[in-house]
Amino acid sequence: MKPFFLFFILLSNLAFSQNYSIKSPDGKLSLQFSLNSDGTPVYALTAGQQQIVGQSKMGIAIKDDPGFTRDLAITKADSSTKDENWNTVWGEEKTIRNNYKELAVNLEQKSGKKLQVRIVFRLFNAGLGFRYEFPVQPALQYFIVTDELTQFKMGADHKVFWIPGDYDTNEYSYSESKLSEVDAIAKGAATEISTRKVFAKNGVQTPLMMKTAQSTYINIHEAALVNYPAMDLTIDAADGFVLTSHLVPDAVGNKAYMRTTDRTPWRVINYSDKATGILASRVILNLNEPSVIKNTSWIKPMKFVGVWWEMHVNRATWDYAGTQNASNTTVQEMKPSGKHGATTANVKKYIDFAAKNGIEGVLVEGWDVGWEDWFGKWKEEVFDFVTPYPDYNVPELHKYAESKGVKIIMHHETSGSATSYERWMDSAFRFMKNNGYDAVKTGYVGRIIPRGEWHDGQWMVNHYSRVAAKAATYQIMVDAHESVRLTGLQRTYPNWMASEAARGNEFNAWSVGNPPAHETILPFTRLMGGPMDYTPGIFETQMKYYDTSKTTMVHTTLTKQLALYVTMYSPLQMAADLPENYERYPDAFQFIKDVAVDWDTTIYLAAEPGDYITIARKKRNGNDWFIGAITDENARTSTIKLDFLPTGKNYEAIIYQDGKNADWKTNPKAYMITKQKVTRASVINLALAPGGGTAIQLKAL
Ligand code: NOJ
Ligand code: CA
Repeated sequence: MKPFFLFFILLSNLAFSQNYSIKSPDGKLSLQFSLNSDGTPVYALTAGQQQIVGQSKMGIAIKDDPGFTRDLAITKADSSTKDENWNTVWGEEKTIRNNYKELAVNLEQKSGKKLQVRIVFRLFNAGLGFRYEFPVQPALQYFIVTDELTQFKMGADHKVFWIPGDYDTNEYSYSESKLSEVDAIAKGAATEISTRKVFAKNGVQTPLMMKTAQSTYINIHEAALVNYPAMDLTIDAADGFVLTSHLVPDAVGNKAYMRTTDRTPWRVINYSDKATGILASRVILNLNEPSVIKNTSWIKPMKFVGVWWEMHVNRATWDYAGTQNASNTTVQEMKPSGKHGATTANVKKYIDFAAKNGIEGVLVEGWDVGWEDWFGKWKEEVFDFVTPYPDYNVPELHKYAESKGVKIIMHHETSGSATSYERWMDSAFRFMKNNGYDAVKTGYVGRIIPRGEWHDGQWMVNHYSRVAAKAATYQIMVDAHESVRLTGLQRTYPNWMASEAARGNEFNAWSVGNPPAHETILPFTRLMGGPMDYTPGIFETQMKYYDTSKTTMVHTTLTKQLALYVTMYSPLQMAADLPENYERYPDAFQFIKDVAVDWDTTIYLAAEPGDYITIARKKRNGNDWFIGAITDENARTSTIKLDFLPTGKNYEAIIYQDGKNADWKTNPKAYMITKQKVTRASVINLALAPGGGTAIQLKAL
């Protein structure tokens, strides 16, 4: 630890006159902390003359005590510096620099029980993190958090990319508006989302992406969400555009049950004068604890196909009888409809397809008894996670997959009954290991059990972590759907590879879908916290292909689906379409076969939330680079300078791009593939179609 320096400014007209200030390692950002006249902690964040966050209140309210909201005194303040590099198990980069200045302030109530809290700030070049810690102390041990009063005073009516604050879902499309124009109630009427709980007109979720009138970018989220509810924000447009933390409550209205030595998650403000700077920030990962898993050799990024899209396009069913009705009959009495997707024969076809194309995994949904009445019943016992339907032969498929060198990925839909899942988890994971499964996709569709709890409350936050921790003891990788949004915990549990926790590609199959700008916003919002299982790779974008009466469609061109493998980071990437559609476009499918899922280096070449993103990534343990460029509904030309390549090296660029008159709406499947020799002196000019994208492989020669 280097010695710190602390600015101690005496302001004579304030009752409490200690102002503390630290600067980021590069000196560009500055944090000020003090107590205001009534003893409330306040902080501000600036970049030179620009206020990023104006003076804002902090505090934690607890039950049966004034808590830590006012009437506090500073008893101690320390500062320190950290500069270290650490290696990721998998990720967008092999090595990450963790460099910050820290200020830790101990506070004590001036009267009453003299309870103590400690606020720790870490200021990085890319932004600020701070959290509340509760040290061991004489008059406090167990306590209930009734509210968190953390505020972020934005000071101006920034442009904001938002989804409604909601205790139960994050599967909304994004709105782009001014802070003052947010209307979460109107947006929250989205009926294609079955389980939702919008709490206020002015409530929004994090990660919250904002752009100022000066074209600087601010992103607010949290890091290391452990044993605490997720944080939404409310906007007070009348009073300096103050955002206030709104914690997801539990079944009886409390926010969190804690004890001393616990601490809150980090509140994170990423800041940059470039949009690409927000994407490049590693503040959230750096604020998470290192891996608790010592031997990580079994954790392997991979691509997978699955018995999945055929259910979403209504070609097959999850349930055996296809009636969605248990009608008091046993499975043995049910008649298979012939449309059941997860049959031994069908899964073998997917295994063959995966083996032939070098794809490591096959996800199988609808294999287990329970799908008859899985949805909307708020029923506690639905699945036991070990009983297959009569037409799904577990040992036979185990042998078959093994003989082809393919791994079957388990599916555990809990239908929101987390209590039942916790009871079955050990036997379910044992069953998986006995039958050769190394990865599980979990799901929480529907209302949560314990009844009264929400998807994003403290109980469920702890549940998702318990699943990841338990899975790790069985050496199982996890991909959680309908979970709370990620907060960088994948550093601590690297077997928790991905979550959905946002609006995935599936919405394009059966709803109004995802507007073309959606994938240009997600990396600035949901993906700030970690990988998303977006399920890219839909080639047959028009659902009328399956049923002429259908008008639903994927709101992208075919090659934009390819570019998503680079722009939408996940160590588990699905090739989500049906094998037959890949067989219709084998030359385009080649990109999915070749693209990497684990990276050595990532370079954010160009980005603007809601408009476009271009990213280049170098394969981990390889020499090839991959580039993805995507646009919103507007056609766009883009110039990519390859000067990030090493000197003296030659590459073959294989460019998968939109065809001449391609358009997501009218001509989505027009594409062309061209090849050229390139070096670091080369420049590639791209023309992206409306809703389009380009994917490039730079093959080292
Ligand atoms: C919603 C998930 O996001 C989807 O991937 C899954 O197929 C269904 N639930 C059924 O579990
Ligand atoms: Ca979902």
